[in-house]
Amino acid sequence: MSQKPQRYTITAALPYTNGPIHIGHLAGVYVPADIYARYLRLMGKDVLFVCGSDEHGVPITIKAKKEGITPQELVDKYHKIIKASFESFGITFDNYSRTSAKIHHETAANFFKTLYDKGKFIEQVTAQLYDEKANQFLADRFVVGTCPKCGNEDSYGDQCERCGTSHNATDLINPRSAITGSKPTLRETNHWFLPLNEYEDWLKKWILKDHTEWKPNVYGQVKSWLDDALKPRAVTRDLDWGIPVPLPGAEGKVLYVWFDAPIGYISATKEWAAQHGKDWEPYWKDANTQLIHFIGKDNIVFHCIIFPAMLKAEGSYILPENVPANEFLNLEGNKLSTSKNWAVWLHEYLEDFPDKQDVLRYVLTANAPETKDNDFTWKNFQDRNNSELAGIFGNFINRVIVLTQKYYDGKVPTPIKYFDELATIKTYKDEIGQAIETFRFREGSQKLIDLARKGNQFLQQQEPWKKIKTHPEEVADIMFAALQFAAALAYLSEPFLPHTSTKLKKALGLHQIAWDAVEIAKDYSRFLIDSGQLITANHEILFPQIEDADIQKQIDKLLATKKVNAMENKTVTPIKPNITFEDFSKMDLRVGTIIKAEKMPKTDKLLVMEVDLGLEIRTIVSGIAQSFAPEEVIGKRVTVLANLAPRKLRGVESQGMILLTENKDEKFVFINPDEDGCENGATIA
Ligand code: 2FM
Ligand code: ZN
Repeated sequence: MSQKPQRYTITAALPYTNGPIHIGHLAGVYVPADIYARYLRLMGKDVLFVCGSDEHGVPITIKAKKEGITPQELVDKYHKIIKASFESFGITFDNYSRTSAKIHHETAANFFKTLYDKGKFIEQVTAQLYDEKANQFLADRFVVGTCPKCGNEDSYGDQCERCGTSHNATDLINPRSAITGSKPTLRETNHWFLPLNEYEDWLKKWILKDHTEWKPNVYGQVKSWLDDALKPRAVTRDLDWGIPVPLPGAEGKVLYVWFDAPIGYISATKEWAAQHGKDWEPYWKDANTQLIHFIGKDNIVFHCIIFPAMLKAEGSYILPENVPANEFLNLEGNKLSTSKNWAVWLHEYLEDFPDKQDVLRYVLTANAPETKDNDFTWKNFQDRNNSELAGIFGNFINRVIVLTQKYYDGKVPTPIKYFDELATIKTYKDEIGQAIETFRFREGSQKLIDLARKGNQFLQQQEPWKKIKTHPEEVADIMFAALQFAAALAYLSEPFLPHTSTKLKKALGLHQIAWDAVEIAKDYSRFLIDSGQLITANHEILFPQIEDADIQKQIDKLLATKKVNAMENKTVTPIKPNITFEDFSKMDLRVGTIIKAEKMPKTDKLLVMEVDLGLEIRTIVSGIAQSFAPEEVIGKRVTVLANLAPRKLRGVESQGMILLTENKDEKFVFINPDEDGCENGATIA
């Protein structure tokens, strides 16, 4: 009896359609998910890989307003751009749907209705933030304020981007409206809540006990959520953009975007099934199906706690087997940011590096933020292309093809003896497969390069270019073996470098075979490429070198962005008009040491300090209390403008000024004369 292949439902986080997508998205979610899906298909599994555009939620309405178009026009625009980027990078979704689709509205509304009918919600009248000027309730990103957990003053109503905590808008300290900037009032409104607290024990067992194999970064975050008692979560909002709450008397209310978005995975499955004459249910309801969610770390709570609680409440669905969330990718040392345009946008990358999709796929995989945040730098991109892809992989393939052309007119020779090295192909295949199955994609990508390295070493040791003169009969054995390595690379690179794999298979005249068939039979009864096979005569270089000038262009682009941001945020003041030396020498700048500090009573910002200037002790008041606690500054060496006319601040005379700058996190930093032997009172000129 033939066994049915194992079924997998693989989901990748639905990207918000309020902008194009960038390398952070690709590295964190879509490339790993695609590697995994491609590999499992090659393993003969029944794979369904779905995604789609997340088109509801407040950020979309804010962005549409900014662009002067309707939310629907906005999501239409970005859905198209995002979909095209995914296609170009070879992300093999079986269906890329969208949450504005009719099937999704129906599916999400029905899901809500089922939970409602089963009595799984609590309906509550609560006070919500209301903008009197804009005449509307303020949910999620319509509110900014101070995060109750980390103190970030610009936290959004639903989630703090600094510490990742997700909260209710009413939890924010000092909330303000993102629409009018005004201070919101509280107004009563009714909403439906999912009582997450009721799922706490079950979640603890299901994840903390039964899924200890989940990645430590995911497990750890879930644990800290579960250690902090869960609270009921509102799953509806007072908004006019979204899926209407399917209940009488709920006019003006929609489903919370995070309630409908994950149901988008189910809708995408239904849509795919309808298009292909399949049954969608086994992909979501058969206990033998493995459900795997690929997401970024900011989505962990939604995929490990809230969505599973929704599925559990519904009762007929399977739960995720794993949620291999990644951490964040930074760009040149700074957090990627759509609003600050600090990103490498995929559609722009493709304009600047056409036909180099695999290079980016590779670099993002080799540097994937699998266990901690990681940094993308253009220099590293160039190095990895030039040394690993071009220098090792491309170089090996090129040598094999050129030598086969030269010695055998492009025909795979017939060997007399086989090299033991051929057995290592199976080892590489198994190890790469194992790495992919356990979500260690970085390791998998490095093993692939190792296989090419191994091929190069083999040629280097055998030196066919010398033996062709001394022992020509041995060269057929050598080149036959080298061609097996090249064929193995063509096959095993498919999940990581799909465009390259296609080119290479074409050049070698191969068709993709199952993953497990990528090995040389022990009895040498079967090979990856057969004697007599004609390989290409005019193959293209797989990975051309990337020149310094191309990299400099990208770095310059980022520097220009930095400049624009700095000007817009006024963090960089334009250089002031020239002054004379005489002007400068009017300033009496001195070295000092802070010896005492305390907070100015009833203020948030001021510290009152005593500074030892050698000759005398000065009292100086400075607005740095949000960057430093008083005890932190005691003992700091500082630069003081000693002859600034004294002035009174809250009744205290400030006798000078301590010179400061700000770091990139907008924290004050002292201008610190820290060299040994600088005495208090020393002049600075
Ligand atoms: O963080 C995001 O970009 C969300 N749009 C992800 C949604 S994932 C899912 F639940 F659909
Ligand atoms: Zn925070």
